[in-house]
Amino acid sequence: MRKQIIAANWKMNKDVNETSEFIYAFQNEMKGVVTAAEVVICPPFIALDTAFELLQGSPFKLGAQNLHFEEDGAFTGEISARMLKSLGAHYVIVGHSERRQYFGETDEIVAKKVKKALSADLKVILCVGESLAERDGGVTEKVLERQVKAALAGLTEQQLASLVIAYEPIWAIGTGRNATPQQAQDAHAFIRKTVAGMLGEHASAALTIQYGGSVKPENAVELLSQPDVDGALVGGASLKADSFAKIVKSSPKEIPTAH
Ligand code: PGA
Repeated sequence: MRKQIIAANWKMNKDVNETSEFIYAFQNEMKGVVTAAEVVICPPFIALDTAFELLQGSPFKLGAQNLHFEEDGAFTGEISARMLKSLGAHYVIVGHSERRQYFGETDEIVAKKVKKALSADLKVILCVGESLAERDGGVTEKVLERQVKAALAGLTEQQLASLVIAYEPIWAIGTGRNATPQQAQDAHAFIRKTVAGMLGEHASAALTIQYGGSVKPENAVELLSQPDVDGALVGGASLKADSFAKIVKSSPKEIPTAH
């Protein structure tokens, strides 16, 4: 059985007050809703504390958007895994394409962050995905394979159980242009095959693979019904409580049996 996870990645949006407003509104939207999906909300660092307090007693989990790979020390402006843990974070997003693109995160850095987060008992949402030039150049699979292999190198099957992969084609992020359900399915199946080659069929069959990139209420049902799409990482459409709730409600109620 594979867990479905719908996560909100707010990026650099919402201050503390806006975070509170969202959480009240979202909990209202979700009253009485039965879903098999795990819901994760990833506000900016400054709102983690407030979000944690407001989410107490709810089934919704808290996630952060980034961490540093060192334990602690002279790294001005950075946040460690232990700090995130102390704020009640359950998940952390690692290797988002914006971090790779604008903040110079290499596969090597991403791998270090994955290990650090897991060692601190944080669950990881690892982002991978190709650029438009890479897709047009026919190297999508090559890029995905490189990113997955680098980030998962040396992990055990047990560690993999605390990791989620988000397939996020860069050309679909924030552009309004989502991957087609078939494009998503193909990439997810390829990622699953790559993980199977590293850690075995059993581990890869249980791995949650989210799709991210212009997910919205209008396309969520179709994307989420693909056999290898086990949830969504949502940016823009997660900023409004009603649209994020609609996406959560789009996830299939029954968890498909892993195949
Ligand atoms: P988007 O962002 O939904 O705004 O395309 C997704 C993401 O970057 O995680």
